[in-house]
Amino acid sequence: MQQENFVPTTNSVMDIYAESKIPGQIKRYRDLFQEFKTIYGFDPEFVARSPGRVNIIGEHIDYAGFPVLPMAVDRDCLIAVATTKLDSKVRLANVNPKFTRAEFSFVDKERIVDIDDTVHEWTNYFKAGYKGMLESLKLDAPVGMFCLMDGSVPSGAGMSSSSALVCTSSIATMIANKKCLSKNDIVQIAIASERYVGTNGGGMDQTASIMSHADAATFIEFHPKFITTPVHFPATLPAISFVVANTMVVADKVVSAPVCYNLRVVETKVAAMILANKLGLLSERPQTLKEVMDLFFAGSEEPKYATVTERWIFRLGRMLELVEQFITQHDGYSLAEMAEAAGLSEDEIHARFMSKYPVRADVFHIYARAIHVYSEALRVVQFRDVCERNQDTVEDSQVVLHQLGRLMNESQVSCRDNYHCSCKELDDLTLICRKAGAYGSRLTGAGWGGCTVSMVPEDQEQEFIQRVKDEYFRPRFPDYTEEQLSNVIFSSRPSSGAFIYRKRTAINPYGG
Ligand code: GLA
Repeated sequence: MQQENFVPTTNSVMDIYAESKIPGQIKRYRDLFQEFKTIYGFDPEFVARSPGRVNIIGEHIDYAGFPVLPMAVDRDCLIAVATTKLDSKVRLANVNPKFTRAEFSFVDKERIVDIDDTVHEWTNYFKAGYKGMLESLKLDAPVGMFCLMDGSVPSGAGMSSSSALVCTSSIATMIANKKCLSKNDIVQIAIASERYVGTNGGGMDQTASIMSHADAATFIEFHPKFITTPVHFPATLPAISFVVANTMVVADKVVSAPVCYNLRVVETKVAAMILANKLGLLSERPQTLKEVMDLFFAGSEEPKYATVTERWIFRLGRMLELVEQFITQHDGYSLAEMAEAAGLSEDEIHARFMSKYPVRADVFHIYARAIHVYSEALRVVQFRDVCERNQDTVEDSQVVLHQLGRLMNESQVSCRDNYHCSCKELDDLTLICRKAGAYGSRLTGAGWGGCTVSMVPEDQEQEFIQRVKDEYFRPRFPDYTEEQLSNVIFSSRPSSGAFIYRKRTAINPYGG
């Protein structure tokens, strides 16, 4: 397998971060090493690092099997690690004193470690990555680990702080035990691991965290094959810049899962069942709206397509018509009604979709969810297409910028009206961002709070940030210092994915 299929190792932070961030990161790594030594009395052997992400477009469609387009950010999770062969204990500490220290022991090859997901603790995410990795490595006696974590991804903000931690802990566990799995394998392990801690997530966050490249977003396809392709932004003048702004509404995906995230997963899966039933595809057992689409087209006549994008556009357009035709109750379905439409019993619906991850709802908005999924998938492929058609030269930058911005704005409208995963603050902030000069602005991540991402002209980025500070943040948070403000609204370049950092010398983090 080629080198690029593995998490890279470096002894220079310059390989990991953009130039402007180097001085700050050098200090951060130094502090991490020093604090490790203060806590444990010796140096760490390596640091595992995996970043958060911002999703540019493609919300809530990864678990429906459709491609998404996130990019990694330079805010990340670091875990400094030292190992011992004397026991199989894991000691966890966090540089942030808010997060208490913990210790746990490896149980055995089958159980690995017990995770109590009824208590909401940061260490659960570490345990999830640890458990997933060891299930895969099947070791009789993994090494003991001394760990110190430093996370800079804001939590509950929709930037994947939890996935960054799960990915980092999987990588830390793998390296501590001197194993070397491919990035693809680590991604699959991290996706499965995170399901130990409460949400039935898709794979976008973990993939972006591990596989991203600096300077590009990543087009992630899940079905029929898992494929990642870097997508560079168009060569517009002015260049594109992305600004992330946090509504400061903390959305705890795990706590609200039964009525928000996990419920949406169920609604899209039932939508797939209903369509499959109406289209005579139930016997093929499709699981997602993407699989229903593929099965439907496997058995039907199609026009000759000049490009892959054309095929996507035709197929998704047709699926939207089929939703209109067959999912007719626009104001929602009761459990009994959706079971009947799907050709299943209520018990079957329960057993298949609601037993592992419980959900609570009287009305299931199947129509609106299906419209969102197929239309959002269409926007993702159109966004990629506009980027790729304008790589080297751009005839009219304004046209391109407006096209991309419009797709982002339409995504926000669909998240708000069809997927009901926005909230007042997200609606207000995206509006303020557009008025302040963003071509497009939308929620990013699961929603119900958290961050927005806005596409702005690079030459007006600072002005834009000032205006949003004045209009959204200062009136609501008059006591915030400039430093606090710079943590709630900041520009974000695409960043590299996971890394392993080893110090070359005791004192030189440049690796010189
Ligand atoms: C969370 C999940 C992802 C994805 C997004 C919504 O971040 O972890 O898998 O579903 O929500 O797009």
